Amino acid sequence: MEHVELAAADLLLRPWRDEDAPAVRDALRDPAIAQWNPQGGDPIDDEVALLWVRRRADWSTGGHASMAVTAAADGKLLGSVSLHRIHDGDASIGYWTVPAARGRQVAVRAVVRLTDWAFADLGLHRVELCHAVANPASCRVAERAGYPAEGTLRESYRYGDGRRYDEHLHARLATDR
Ligand SMILES: CC(C)(COP(=O)(O)OP(=O)(O)OC[C@H]1O[C@@H](n2cnc3c(N)ncnc32)[C@H](O)[C@@H]1OP(=O)(O)O)[C@@H](O)C(=O)NCCC(=O)NCCS
Repeated sequence: MEHVELAAADLLLRPWRDEDAPAVRDALRDPAIAQWNPQGGDPIDDEVALLWVRRRADWSTGGHASMAVTAAADGKLLGSVSLHRIHDGDASIGYWTVPAARGRQVAVRAVVRLTDWAFADLGLHRVELCHAVANPASCRVAERAGYPAEGTLRESYRYGDGRRYDEHLHARLATDR
């Protein structure tokens, strides 16, 4: 898959770069991100952060499209949004925003922009979004981004504290209005 950049008003979604590693290191150390976007338990140091951005910058398998969400004005890193498990018209979407960028609908707008691209340009049919029931902010992001809830998955995912949590499954179809 070829890299793309997606503009969305004052946001620019773009592929990850090595220079993002220090900001990613700080973001992944945020307690809320560590809890709801766990990275496997390793301490997050510069090396882990650099590997993280390099893995996400490599779209060559076609299995994911991972993007940095930045401020169009000054390039500052605001968050992350990614399509993963892209296969046969389906994908899953995930996201986080840095603490300083929260409360401005950054995640909602990034999810909407990446989803629109997934349907229009990748030709996907269904994108799923899962979040812990205990994470109501993420539930709100899903609803605001046009992903209706489809049900509850029981103790379906182990989050950062090592516990299994119930999750809501949300999804959008290309044919949804
Ligand atoms: C969840 C997260 C991505 C939200 O991103 P954001 O861009 O800051 O979203 P906003 O702050 O603009 O909030 C979006 C909505 O959630 C609501 N919200 C925020 N915190 C909330 C909370 N604790 N409980 C309920 N709703 C909440 C906001 O009021 C807003 O709703 P509104 O549009 O009706 O006003 C961000 O808080 C985050 O990165 N959290 C840690 C990691 C995480 O949870 N990732 C998602 C894993 S599935």
